[in-house]
Amino acid sequence: SLPFDHVTIAVFGASGDLAKKMTYPAIYSLVANGMLDVNKLHVVGTARSSYEGSEFQDKIKKGLKEKKDAKASISDFISRCSYVSLKGYEDTESYSKLDAAIRKLEPEGKKSLRLFYIALPPSAFEDVSGNIKKKCWPEGQTNRLIVEKPYGKDEASAKKLSKHLESLFSEDELYRIDHYLGKDTVKTILPLRFGGNPHLSSTWSREHVSAVTINFKEEFGAEGRGGYFDEFGMIRDVMQNHLMQWIVLLGMEPPKSLSADDIHEAKLKFISDCKPIVPEDVLVAQYEASKSDKEKKAYKDDETVKNDSKAATFATAVMYVNNERWRGVPFVIRAGKALDETRAEVTLHYKTPAKALFPTATPSTFTVRDHPEKSHTLTLSTKQVGEGFSIVSAPLVVDFDHASPSASVKASYVPSAYETLIFEAITGDHTWFIPRAEAEAGWRVWDKAISGTENRTPFAYEYGGQGPKEEKEFLKQRAHDVHFETGEAVTEDF
Ligand code: BG6
Repeated sequence: SLPFDHVTIAVFGASGDLAKKMTYPAIYSLVANGMLDVNKLHVVGTARSSYEGSEFQDKIKKGLKEKKDAKASISDFISRCSYVSLKGYEDTESYSKLDAAIRKLEPEGKKSLRLFYIALPPSAFEDVSGNIKKKCWPEGQTNRLIVEKPYGKDEASAKKLSKHLESLFSEDELYRIDHYLGKDTVKTILPLRFGGNPHLSSTWSREHVSAVTINFKEEFGAEGRGGYFDEFGMIRDVMQNHLMQWIVLLGMEPPKSLSADDIHEAKLKFISDCKPIVPEDVLVAQYEASKSDKEKKAYKDDETVKNDSKAATFATAVMYVNNERWRGVPFVIRAGKALDETRAEVTLHYKTPAKALFPTATPSTFTVRDHPEKSHTLTLSTKQVGEGFSIVSAPLVVDFDHASPSASVKASYVPSAYETLIFEAITGDHTWFIPRAEAEAGWRVWDKAISGTENRTPFAYEYGGQGPKEEKEFLKQRAHDVHFETGEAVTEDF
């Protein structure tokens, strides 16, 4: 059970998309699954919009799905949700109002936690966090702040943000969230590497691996999100944070233990070994309208996007790591919106043994996938069963999504990434949040890649296609021969 008699989650940006689609459903799911007791919880939404009567509750309700065997119904949960509108993010009076509203919900003389979750544009961040501290942060009680991305735009602004936060909060009170760290497919890299898999752990290095690839594709564009996306672009939106977190766990040295400090130390060490990515090793592109589907408009045709926008909606970057384990191995990081499918996976591409008896054999790969299904796949070269000696590549697959709930790989309750992280923030576990030093160091790897490509005219690709045609040549020149579409990669030896 939790060390609190009562929890209030204050959601900033409650009128927005993230709140409706992610935050509230995640909190409800925690309640429905019995992780949080609905009778000891209140969720106070806040934003600048005003809502009449039950308008806000009705809106939130639309994002929720009734669950089988739920410990609390949607209406039980909704009855614990309220809304306070702010006159403006800088208006201190509004925060006094919010504080009074929360105070009313907190049982007197009991141990209460206030968890503030800020999902707002970065421009509002300093005002909001400053005012929360001033007006809504009672002494002698536990208060915490979840900080959503984007954490700055570059190293300098991230440092400025850190300074601001440091002047108000202790590091213990801050939870910098990256929802990829709430994903099982990201965390699973640790047992895969450091559990009982010597065939993986002993081959997890430059000696046996010729390349590491990350392939992130989405079928949908940045529709309606231009106000944010146009300023940030694909590299900042997912590569510098989500995909980088995945790479860090894949690439870091074994932590001394699974304690938060030891994991953070190993992660930071790896990030400092990553060479800053140079603009020459980055390809950027932007989607144009689909030729066959009128609904799939060009990025620039979105009302929320500037007509002359050069924002990348697709990027491929090649990163190198300057340490014993990875020296010379390209990490090819690729992410795009408005493509032919939704996919998110990391793959280790093994080298072909120097004196292969079977020169036609495809080198083995090992893939950890989050989309379209959660799975691990190891491909093996083997002999086709039957006459002759045909060598084929065959997959060994663990498919978590299609495993029955009783199978040992899947627990009966599989929380979403946001659920996991919100719950961990409530329990005070920092392991899967990002410490200050790491949040800043991450930018050092990406700053040049971003500033050096931001004013470049991006290549074009068609909405619903496989990305810009120039990518093939780009990869050939920089990272040997990577074929994302077939899963084959790097035929050359180093
Ligand atoms: C968000 C980005 O942080 O992550 C989105 O802002 C992106 O643009 C999303 O679509 C991807 O998350 P997931 O969990 O769907 O892979």
